[in-house]
Amino acid sequence: MKILVTGGAGFIGANFVFYMLEEHPEDEIVCLDALTYAGNLETLEPAMDNPRFRFVKGDVADRKAVFPLFEKEGFDVVVNFAAESHVDRSIEDPGIFLKTNILGTQVLMDASREYGVKRFHQVGTDEVYGDLPLDRPDLFFTEDMPVTASSPYSASKASADLLVMAYHRTFGLPVTISRCSNNYGPYQFPEKLIPLMIANALADKPLPVYGTGENVRDWLYVEDHCRAIDRILRSGRVGEVYNIGGHNERNNLEVVKTILAQLNKPESLITFVGDRKGHDLRYAIDPTKIHEELGWLPTTKFDDGIRQTIDWYLDHEPWWRNIISGEYQQYYEKMYGNR
Ligand code: NAD
Ligand code: DAU
Repeated sequence: MKILVTGGAGFIGANFVFYMLEEHPEDEIVCLDALTYAGNLETLEPAMDNPRFRFVKGDVADRKAVFPLFEKEGFDVVVNFAAESHVDRSIEDPGIFLKTNILGTQVLMDASREYGVKRFHQVGTDEVYGDLPLDRPDLFFTEDMPVTASSPYSASKASADLLVMAYHRTFGLPVTISRCSNNYGPYQFPEKLIPLMIANALADKPLPVYGTGENVRDWLYVEDHCRAIDRILRSGRVGEVYNIGGHNERNNLEVVKTILAQLNKPESLITFVGDRKGHDLRYAIDPTKIHEELGWLPTTKFDDGIRQTIDWYLDHEPWWRNIISGEYQQYYEKMYGNR
């Protein structure tokens, strides 16, 4: 198979590229990535010399770049990871989220129709189900729940999902959608909760916990997500949505305390700051469908995954120090300076 992976210079996309090159020696991968602030070519270095891998810099919303690429490469499969992915940034500046996440998806699907792609897979998020209350641990997100949104980010991802289903019904585009819970693991940009807290703890800086820290997320090790998408590509039913998650709920305070304990840092570093606007309370995936239909279950327990992740950040300091030393400094000051 020849697979287009968009957004492959970001966190999950890069992990997916490594996973697929390793697991499927028969497949070829082309990565299309605009190298925004979140994309990093250094991340893809381990794949660059592989003859079955090629990197192309380009914007998924740029029709003039996307169509010739599809014509030249003749992709069998498209896996669309490319997105603006950070909720806090979407609250500051929603516009680019609509362009990349909605219009970019449209351009990729138009090209997929034109050049006969056999599967268009949209990498979606559980945030399109809104949130669940904290006092109803019996409730979980299932695929048949209505799509809704709390942030401009989740609204853009929900819009993209609706468009993907519309292209399936109207034009017969062979699509699948996965909706995954919060990922963690190697190469995550240090603006997200876990790597941000690791970097701050190592620098003995305050750890900014939004609100009361009681918000709950359902954490999944990134490799488990990659394996689930691979299963969906090979055995998933066209036109279907698959939730991905593994009953690994933790509130933010628990996550932050785990990180501090493993790094041997004091809990006095925890600093409660102003809450995120529209902050979703709880995410929790019901993975019954992907388990029963495709036999997928997560393999990495949170306690092991978080230890491996912390070790990875300790072993790869130049990778994230490089990121937080540049433009990111201004972002941090803007987001956390007066919070
Ligand atoms: P990320 O921000 O780390 O990476 C996004 C990548 O997309 C970057 O390499 C960036 O350069 C690229 N990109 C952005 N705009 C582009 C454009 N216009 N054209 C081409 N490339 C562009 O994001 P991530 O955390 O790896 O998330 C990847 C996907 O998975 C997203 O679609 C996100 O919505 C979804 N998702 C993420 C999580 C999570 O916990 N991180 C969970 C569920 C779903
Ligand atoms: O659920 C899937 C989603 O998970 C993905 O679709 C998004 O792309 C991804 O960014 C993630 O969204 P969250 O908003 O849940 O992730 P984030 O790491 O930004 O925040 C996790 C929780 O931690 C959330 O409740 C907000 C809180 N938080 C976050 C940061 C960055 C803090 O308390 N302090 C912080 O500094």
